[in-house]
Order: sequence, then C-alpha cells, then structure tokens
Amino acid sequence: MPVDMASVSGTTVCVTGAGGFIASWIVKLLLERGYTVRGTVRNPDDPKNTHLRELEGAKERLILCKADLLDFQSLKEAINGCDGVFHTASPVTDDPEQMVEPAVNGTKNVIIAAAEAKVRRVVFTSSIGAVYMDPNRGPDVVVDESCWSDLEFCKNTKNWYCYGKAVAEHAAWEVAKEKEVDLVVVNPVLVLGPLLQPTINASIIHILKYLTGSAKTYANSVQAYVHVRDVALAHILVFETPSASGRYLCAESVLHRGDVVEILAKFFPEYPIPTKCSDEKNPRKTPYKFSNQKLKDLGLEFTSVKQCLYDTVKSLQEKGHLQIPTPQEDSIKIQS
Ligand SMILES: NC(=O)c1ccc[n+]([C@@H]2O[C@H](COP(=O)([O-])OP(=O)(O)OC[C@H]3O[C@@H](n4cnc5c(N)ncnc54)[C@H](OP(=O)(O)O)[C@@H]3O)[C@@H](O)[C@H]2O)c1
Repeated sequence: MPVDMASVSGTTVCVTGAGGFIASWIVKLLLERGYTVRGTVRNPDDPKNTHLRELEGAKERLILCKADLLDFQSLKEAINGCDGVFHTASPVTDDPEQMVEPAVNGTKNVIIAAAEAKVRRVVFTSSIGAVYMDPNRGPDVVVDESCWSDLEFCKNTKNWYCYGKAVAEHAAWEVAKEKEVDLVVVNPVLVLGPLLQPTINASIIHILKYLTGSAKTYANSVQAYVHVRDVALAHILVFETPSASGRYLCAESVLHRGDVVEILAKFFPEYPIPTKCSDEKNPRKTPYKFSNQKLKDLGLEFTSVKQCLYDTVKSLQEKGHLQIPTPQEDSIKIQS
C-alpha cells in the first residue's frame, strides 16, 4: 500500500526537468502529498518555470536547483540529501545530436549521483518508444513490460527519439545494477491533458495540429494515449509502493487517428478538424493490444481517452494557445 500523508512529511525528493509537462504534474502531486521537492531546471530565472512557484505548497516546500543533465556536479548537488529521485528530464526530439547524448549520459549521471547520495529509490520516466518499436512483433502479441524496441530498427527508420529513450533505459538498468540502486521505470505512451507550464510541449502538438487547421488530413496510423495526471500518479505510486519493481507500461487506450479526429469534432465542432485520411489506398491500421495491468494492480484508475482529449483542448483554450472561434468568425467562414 502507498504510504500515508503523515509519513511523507519531511521526505525530500528530487524531480529532474521540473518545468516540463509531465514533471510539473509530478511536482504538483508530490507537493499536495506533503513532500519537500527539489526540482531541477536549467534556468531558474526563465519565466517558463514561474508556474512551479505558484503551485500549492511551493512556497514552503519547493526548491528550484539549476542543473543540466550533462553536468554531473550540478545533478549531485540537487540529489544529495534526497530520499528519492524522479528522473523525468530528457530532450524530446528526433534530432540525433540533441537527443541521444543527454538522454543516455544524463540518465547515467542521475543514477550515479543517486547511488552516491544513497537515495532509497529512483523512478525513471522512460517511454513506449523503448517498448513497441519492433517490426517482428506479431499482430496478436499483447504489448507489455516484457517488450523492448529493436535498436537497429529505430536507427534504420531514423526514430532517434525512440532510439535515445531505449538506449537510455538500457543504460539505466545497467548502471542501477552495477551501483545497486533501486530503480523502477514508468513507460508512458503519448501523454495528453491539462498543461501546467506556459509553453507547448511536443505531445500536445500531436492534438493542436488538428484544431488549428494546419493538418488537412489525418494519418492512417494508431497511437496509444494516457492522461498526464495518471502518468504523474503512476510515478508516485511506484515510488511509494515498496514492492513495486521493474517496468510499468502507462497507457489507457490505443486509437486510430480517425477515432481521435472524430472525438475532437464531437466535442469541438467549431474547429477545422480534418475529416479525410491521407492514405485512401491501404487498409485502416488496427490498434495493437496492450496491458496496463501492472499499474492497475497498484490501484491506478486510468482516465478515459475522451476525457484526455477534452481536457487537452480546454487547457489549450484557457492558456491562450488556441483561439475560441467567435460566432462572427464562424459566419465569415460559412460565407467564404
Ligand atoms: N509527453 C509524452 O507524450 C511522453 C511520453 C512518454 C515519455 N515521455 C518522457 O517524459 C519525460 C518528460 O517529457 P515531457 O513531455 O514532459 O517533455 P517536456 O515538457 O519537453 O519536458 C522535458 C524536460 O526535460 C528538460 N531537459 C531537456 N534536456 C535537458 C538537459 N540537457 N538538462 C536538463 N534538463 C533537460 C527540459 O528542460 P528545459 O525546460 O530547460 O528545456 C524539460 O523540462 C521525457 O523523459 C520524455 O521522454 C513523454
């Protein structure tokens, strides 16, 4: 069972890349549970991190530390004295130069610093990208924690993000074993939901492009989705549950893009959401099977993908990233 609130008071944990989409939610939930949080950011004075200082409990229990994944000393200073580390920072890009080194060496640095600080547990945010990129998996195979992406396939298809995350996760397990660090890994699928940070991160663009008119068609492909609050809670559950171990696939459902645009259009008919698939020749791709049983067994109740999509769009509107069309604009569109 997870620990109760009274027992976490006085517990200090470090969250790397605290200002990011997922990490901001981890920090928020940790503060709400009574933890003291050391959040690493590359620039504490950057206005893009201001939202962290506004979180409930931040004034009393959030310390922002300047650290870069490739600067071991900066990580060591942030992690020293912590009971746990949530290593969430990573580049999110398909540029191999920007992706691979910080993802892999940064992860090694965090685990070595955690070993030296004798932290109780490290929770590493890996990705479905380290799990499902395997061209030899049969269509009926259930994707779960036993699956690993094929590194050669990632390289050959230039999926440098998946390659970087898979190599980083392999490195995490290797260094943790060598340094006797208690490591648990969360592998989220594409994460959606309300943004706490003022900027737009990569996974949100996946949805934003269907609302702005920039995507005229949708692809003949499938994608798994999960709510950001559930991802943050998954990290905390695996940290707080002593018996948690290994990898945890964090996914709610797999949808074809056609289903995504249909749900969006039902909730938000006022936007120019595409109605045509870019591939009219090939058969419609079918969603793969997966298991999220390990997290369900820890008590996680996943938010529905419909709610994820709804919350994402509402948040984009509230943060001013997406205009709410006025009736006047609508009538102009109809006339033209
Ligand atoms: N969003 C998803 O759909 C998804 C799915 C599966 C896994 N993940 C994983 O979840 C984690 C967070 O992703 P996110 O979506 O929240 O992305 P995000 O909003 O872009 O956050 C990434 C964070 O990493 C930090 N970072 C990048 N390079 C760094 C470096 N060299 N040193 C220190 N910090 C660095 C960034 O800091 P700056 O602000 O200073 O740039 C940022 O705070 C990543 O590990 C990602 O691979 C995300």
